[in-house]
Amino acid sequence: MPLKVFSPTKENISKAACLLKSGKLVTFPTETVYGLGADATSENAIKLLYEAKGRPKENPLIIHIDSVERLESVADLSKLDSRKISSLEKLFSLWPGPLTIVLPKSEYITGLATAGGDTVAVRIPNHPVALELLREAKLPLAGPSANTSGYVSPTTAQHVAAWRDSRIEMILDGGECSVGVESTVLSLVHQVPTILRPGFITAEYLSKFLNTEIFVSGAASWKSAILSPGTSFTHYSPLTPVALLPLPPDFKLPEKTGYLAFSNASSYFSPTRRLNLSESGDLEEVAHNLYAGLRELDTAGLDLILIDTCSSEGFGASIMDRIRRAAGTENGK
Ligand code: TXA
Ligand code: MG
Repeated sequence: MPLKVFSPTKENISKAACLLKSGKLVTFPTETVYGLGADATSENAIKLLYEAKGRPKENPLIIHIDSVERLESVADLSKLDSRKISSLEKLFSLWPGPLTIVLPKSEYITGLATAGGDTVAVRIPNHPVALELLREAKLPLAGPSANTSGYVSPTTAQHVAAWRDSRIEMILDGGECSVGVESTVLSLVHQVPTILRPGFITAEYLSKFLNTEIFVSGAASWKSAILSPGTSFTHYSPLTPVALLPLPPDFKLPEKTGYLAFSNASSYFSPTRRLNLSESGDLEEVAHNLYAGLRELDTAGLDLILIDTCSSEGFGASIMDRIRRAAGTENGK
């Protein structure tokens, strides 16, 4: 049985906040994907969260806060030089929003949440239910995507419910996530501001916005960014094998093939199942529908899922990042 989903009434949000305060796990909607929330100041809650996700304990979590005022409780801004502080202050105007900023960590959050590191990734999510929950709980909440580690992130409450993990005490329903791919992760602890994971807010935009050079980490995963640059890493990945188009000429298609097309114009071949993520090839629409499409085809009994590709410029970078990881070829073409 899928888990029960709760509408985000005042009463249910209060109940969810109480559960979080007592160290339990609650999933909540954000504008990017659904998060699996846990009290970031509690070792036990964070342990439970890592267990539920089956997440490697070396992979640090994103901490969600409700306001800039709360930032100094989770981050130690005295360790940033004045240039970085001035960039950070500019970035505040992008919050709430799909931007996570990596900063020096404060002592308040448990080191388990940051994988023992001395930096913390923080964001203010732009979703009324998430914000109300954070205000009500009065806690910084660790919030990785609400899925088994490595699987496709959830963009609806029903996706979370299908996970059926009994350690989730409550699922708050906030509808479909508007963006559909995870936040941009921008590090301000590197010498030059560095994008560790591409997202809705692009490198091009941030560079203009901050009027500074922005580095983009070659392979934006926790393994490559923190431990071993360039390591290949499968993530955001369905159980069905995934291949990206165009296929090499000698590629033999299996019998049952699914096709995630970026527009209704692309007609590469005759698949067993086809889903158009956008009618017109609009990349924001493609991102919005991507994970739901992957999940749908993953439960359709197919041998292979083929996915269109796009240019890695601008917002296309985050789509290409996610689908390369889904295919396990992020270091490939
Ligand atoms: O959109 C999002 O960011 C969603 C929603 C729920 O907010 N959350 C999310 O969390 O995607 P998660 O745990 O699935 O991804 C966190 C990413 C990982 O790539 C992790 O390595 C990186 O952020 N990260 C977390 N803390 C970090 C740190 N201190 N330094 C560098 N990278 C960090
Ligand atoms: Mg995730």
